[in-house]
Amino acid sequence: MQIFRDVDALRRGLASLRDDGGHVAMVPTMGALHAGHMALVTEAQRRAARVVVSIFVNPTQFGPNEDLSAYPRREADDAAMLREAGVDILWAPGVEAMYPDGFATSIRVSGLSEELDGAHRPGHFDGVATVVAKLFGQVRPDIACFGEKDYQQLAIIRRLVADLDLGVEIVGVPTVRDPDGLALSSRNAYLSPDEREQALALPRALNEAARAIVAGADVALALAEAADAIRVGGFESVDYVELRDAANLKRIDSLDGPARLLAAARIGRTRLIDNIAVNL
Ligand code: PAF
Repeated sequence: MQIFRDVDALRRGLASLRDDGGHVAMVPTMGALHAGHMALVTEAQRRAARVVVSIFVNPTQFGPNEDLSAYPRREADDAAMLREAGVDILWAPGVEAMYPDGFATSIRVSGLSEELDGAHRPGHFDGVATVVAKLFGQVRPDIACFGEKDYQQLAIIRRLVADLDLGVEIVGVPTVRDPDGLALSSRNAYLSPDEREQALALPRALNEAARAIVAGADVALALAEAADAIRVGGFESVDYVELRDAANLKRIDSLDGPARLLAAARIGRTRLIDNIAVNL
C-alpha cells in the first residue's frame, strides 16, 4: 500500500494505478477505523480493481463546541489495517494540503443539510459536502462507498454528485453493529462502560418504534415513545427521533413506502446517531 500526503504525489500514484484500466473505488474516512469502515473497504474491493482510502479529520465539519481536538487519531494502526486488507493507496493529507492559504470555497446542498443533524450541527454538512467534493476531485474515483450509519450524509452526497455531475457511483453500505445491536462508530470510544451499556437504549428504541409503526401504530406517538425510552435508558437529551422517506428524507407521518427511522441523542459528552429501515 502506498501512502501519499500531497496531491502531486497522489496523482502520480493514481496514474500508475489506472494503467491496467480497472475501476477505482474510494472510501473516504476520518480514520479511527473499525469493522464498519472495513466493511466499506470490502464492498469497494468487490466493486473495483483498485481501492483508495482517505483519512482526513476534516476541521470544517466540526462546530466550535465539537470534538475536533479530541477526535481519535490512530493513523499507524489504521494504515496497518488497510495494508492487511490489501488497499492500494492511503491518501492522508494534512490540513495545509486540503485547505491551503486562500482556500475560499464552500458547497451547500441546501434543504437536506439544514434538517435533522443539520439543524443541530449548523454548517456540518457544508463541511462534509465541500471536503467530499474536494476528495473526489483529487482521487477521481469511479465508485465511492459510504456507510448507511450516516444516512443523511449519504443522501446529501448522492444529491451533491447528481447536482454537480461528478460522475461517481455512490454506494451505501449497511451499518455494522456490535452483537448487542449498538452501531459501530469511532465516537463509541468516548463511552464509559456504563454509558456503553446505556447506549443500547438507542437501537432498542428504534427497533421498537419501527415494529410498532409497521404494526399500524400512530407514527407521532411511536416517535414520542421512542424518545422517552431513549431518555429513560440513560441519555441526557434527544435531538430528534423522526420517520422520513427513505429515498428523499422528506418528513412523513404515515408509512406507505420504504421509510427510515433516524435518531440522535446525547449520553455523557458523546452524541450518538443511529437509523434503521422501516418497511411495510
Ligand atoms: O463519514 C465520515 O467519516 C466523514 O464525514 C467524511 C465522509 C469522510 C467526510 O469528512
